[in-house]
Amino acid sequence: MSKPLHAAVIGRPISHSLSPRIHQSWLDDAGLHGFYTSFDLAPEDLADGLHALMKLGFAGVNITIPHKEKALQLADEISPRAAAVGAANTLTFQNDKIFADNTDVHGFAHYLKIVSGRSSYDHAVVLGAGGASRAIMHALAQMNVGKITIVNRTITRAEEVAALAPISKVSSWEEAWGDDVDLMVNTTSLGLGQDADGNKALEKAAGQLIKGGVAMDIVYKPIKTHFLEQAEYRGAITIDGLGMLVHQAAPAFEAFYGQPPSNPDKILRQLLGEFSS
Ligand code: ATR
Repeated sequence: MSKPLHAAVIGRPISHSLSPRIHQSWLDDAGLHGFYTSFDLAPEDLADGLHALMKLGFAGVNITIPHKEKALQLADEISPRAAAVGAANTLTFQNDKIFADNTDVHGFAHYLKIVSGRSSYDHAVVLGAGGASRAIMHALAQMNVGKITIVNRTITRAEEVAALAPISKVSSWEEAWGDDVDLMVNTTSLGLGQDADGNKALEKAAGQLIKGGVAMDIVYKPIKTHFLEQAEYRGAITIDGLGMLVHQAAPAFEAFYGQPPSNPDKILRQLLGEFSS
């Protein structure tokens, strides 16, 4: 039997993470000898934790909140997309060295293309300027997009994200920024729907989408967020956050286990079924 390959996701909190289920389902499908688990680690313990896992023979780890920026600093080598985004979500261990990548960029662009069938847009709007927004902006900068507007409460944060794509401009929620938007991505925590003012802001934003435009939310709990409901009501194609999550995991799986998942969408359909019921 070949040497077992182990990987994990590291974050804090981590109990909610779907990554172990996604990767383990692909391991089982492939009949591979290995496991994928999760570790809850304090930020100050990240470096020791990574080196311990490397010594134990792990193939690599996924990194989630709040460690994505720190992980990049701890890496020996960094992929161009992780360097551009300024955060890593996938680390692989080779010859006592840490290689950092950011597969969120792929997860977003790939899933958007699968569902919408398009990779060119006239006007894309990104709501929010956190870590997820940075990965999405970098992906949009590689696509055929006429212009990009980043809408955020804190303008200085939006300006930092805008630097990732030369064609982008920054706007506050209050300004008139929304003419003829054919792609809108919500990366704010307003998508969780717990805030009445936030819901109103997202309703107004969704109202700027043209009929047949594409609306995506990175939130997947609930699967149909208030933003997506409003966008659907206006005739947009809607894309939930689960697909991006599953598709960012696929290149990480290949980096850890040496082969791509044979049927990445099987677990996506299962999770969608559970989250929708
Ligand atoms: P992540 O890294 O997961 O994307 P984050 O860095 O916490 O998360 O970013 C959350 C986003 O939601 C930010 O764009 C934040 O706006 P600010 O940059 O102004 O903080 C946005 N956000 C959170 N709560 C908000 C609120 N009540 N109103 C408007 N925007 C909000």
